[in-house]
Amino acid sequence: MSTDHPGFCAIVTGGNSGIGRATAERLLTEGARVLVVDQQPAASFSAPDLHYLEADVAGPGSPERIIRKAIDTFGRLDFLINNAGMVGGTEIDQMALEDWRRIIAVNLDAVFQISQAAIPYLKTSQRGRIINIGSIMSNLAGAGMAAYTTSKHGVAGLTKTLALELGRYGITANFIQPGAIQTGITQPAIDHDPSFSQFWTQKSALGRLGQPKDIANAINFLLTEDAGFITAHGLVVDGGVMVTP
Ligand SMILES: NC(=O)c1ccc[n+]([C@@H]2O[C@H](COP(=O)([O-])OP(=O)(O)OC[C@H]3O[C@@H](n4cnc5c(N)ncnc54)[C@H](O)[C@@H]3O)[C@@H](O)[C@H]2O)c1
Repeated sequence: MSTDHPGFCAIVTGGNSGIGRATAERLLTEGARVLVVDQQPAASFSAPDLHYLEADVAGPGSPERIIRKAIDTFGRLDFLINNAGMVGGTEIDQMALEDWRRIIAVNLDAVFQISQAAIPYLKTSQRGRIINIGSIMSNLAGAGMAAYTTSKHGVAGLTKTLALELGRYGITANFIQPGAIQTGITQPAIDHDPSFSQFWTQKSALGRLGQPKDIANAINFLLTEDAGFITAHGLVVDGGVMVTP
């Protein structure tokens, strides 16, 4: 049976839950070797070609450690999926600077630093790919979500610049813009605030919340050879949420 990524080697940050885990599982079934990086102490699933590194993507020295681990394990790197992310915060007049800085550090600075550390290895790949996880909040804004919104707008700008600078090496860089997806980030709201699911379900043209697999499928496509001329693109995967104001 043919697979999409035979022998290709990937890093998936935040790959122990939600979108990252679904992505890692999909890539493994498509013949890739995968290094999952996550701040959680142990992998939540296993597979022969799954490798695991416990790390805070925004920790000191983490970017170099993450790339070193991939190279020591695989001897090469083809796909970088910067997925680890966090939400949080309050309205701006109440927000502590440390909280702002932590969200920016995890959602944006780490994407910059891990991409930077990966570039020399992606340049030698036959199919170098960077996929960053933005959000529909890469275009929109939400009260009480200043740091998250800013970080995801930043992911859009950073990804487009990566695409411009790396295109000459045949490397593509794209970002995904998920809508409301049922994952660890949204589960507390789904469990405790019935209006959350109701709002996003009704707003979706497809009448449902997204599942991690919906995003993993889109990421998998952008990693294929067929997607080789797609770069600097923000792919909205939201079940039609963004089509109405
Ligand atoms: N769920 C949604 O509705 C939604 C919508 C838009 C964008 N996103 C983005 O999708 C990405 C994945 O989130 P998810 O929804 O799958 O949530 P999730 O909580 O299920 O998974 C996030 C994973 O990232 C890990 N992680 C978080 N901070 C980390 C850090 N500093 N270092 C290492 N690992 C870290 C967590 O341990 C967890 O395993 C995030 O970037 C998020 O902003 C999610």
